[in-house]
Amino acid sequence: MDLFFKNKVAVVTGAGGTLCSEIAVFLAKKGAKVALLGRTREKLKITADRISKDGGVCMIERCDVTDEACVAESAERIKEQLGPCSFLVNGAGGNNGKVMTTNKSYVPNELEMDNEADFKGFFNIDINAFEDVLKVNTLGSVIPSRIFGRQMAEDGGGSIINFASMNSYCPLTKVPAYAMSKCAVVGLTKWLAAYLAPANIRVNAIAPGFFANERSEKFLGTPETGLSPRGQSVIDHTPMERFGKGEDLLGTAEWLLDDRKSAFVSGITVPVDGGFLTRSGV
Ligand SMILES: NC(=O)c1ccc[n+]([C@@H]2O[C@H](COP(=O)([O-])OP(=O)(O)OC[C@H]3O[C@@H](n4cnc5c(N)ncnc54)[C@H](OP(=O)(O)O)[C@@H]3O)[C@@H](O)[C@H]2O)c1
Repeated sequence: MDLFFKNKVAVVTGAGGTLCSEIAVFLAKKGAKVALLGRTREKLKITADRISKDGGVCMIERCDVTDEACVAESAERIKEQLGPCSFLVNGAGGNNGKVMTTNKSYVPNELEMDNEADFKGFFNIDINAFEDVLKVNTLGSVIPSRIFGRQMAEDGGGSIINFASMNSYCPLTKVPAYAMSKCAVVGLTKWLAAYLAPANIRVNAIAPGFFANERSEKFLGTPETGLSPRGQSVIDHTPMERFGKGEDLLGTAEWLLDDRKSAFVSGITVPVDGGFLTRSGV
């Protein structure tokens, strides 16, 4: 239990996911009352059960963070049951395999492969899936920031954490929509930090390096089951020679949320990447 977090309300989106389930459980252990947001109740329930087992307080809200009406309804229920939001962790987001290109760069015969189901290039990629990725990673943080940020402004302040990525610094191959959207997160974080400073709301971002999750395991593999060439390249590029684990983010999340530790910090993006950004890859 921590007096700063005790009984304050933390809203965590993507709380059924790999990274933000850990952050949600951590904040509940600190004494915060945690609202768990996501689209799949079963995933949220696993996080909620972990919190309840430890004697923590939480509630589940099933909603799509890109749907403003749905988030607004959830926010009303959260305020009624737990109180106004003090901390917002915008963890919902990610990529979609449908917008991963087959090759790292243009190949001379790709224009003839437009209709081949198993070939995806920039020219025939699924534009609707592209838009979905942009939407969840950008508006999926804007919308909760508007709705829960309003509660913070009314209540005298708060702190928001967004999720950037290594793509925010330099794009990875094959993931155009994800790379584009995670750059936007850094811009949004800075803009919102400046705008909300007079409301006593701090806005920062965490840029995780490579953390295994259900989706990434398909593309990267695991050290136990064997790494894909892309997974091996990630490890070779990471001085600490491993993928991140959820708990690697907790100290940074705590620091960014805690006014006693980071009261004068706003608008930054903190890489938590095992040193990935120290290498150019050459
Ligand atoms: N893992 C990494 O290596 C890594 C690296 C850099 C950045 N990040 C970023 O860190 C954040 C968390 O990643 P993660 O690894 O924990 O991913 P994850 O395990 O896939 O969790 C993401 C969660 O977001 C939820 N979600 C997705 N779209 C949503 C929507 N429209 N509305 C509400 N919830 C939605 C998903 O649940 P439902 O599908 O049930 O809604 C899922 O539980 C993401 O923004 C990701 O891009 C991750």
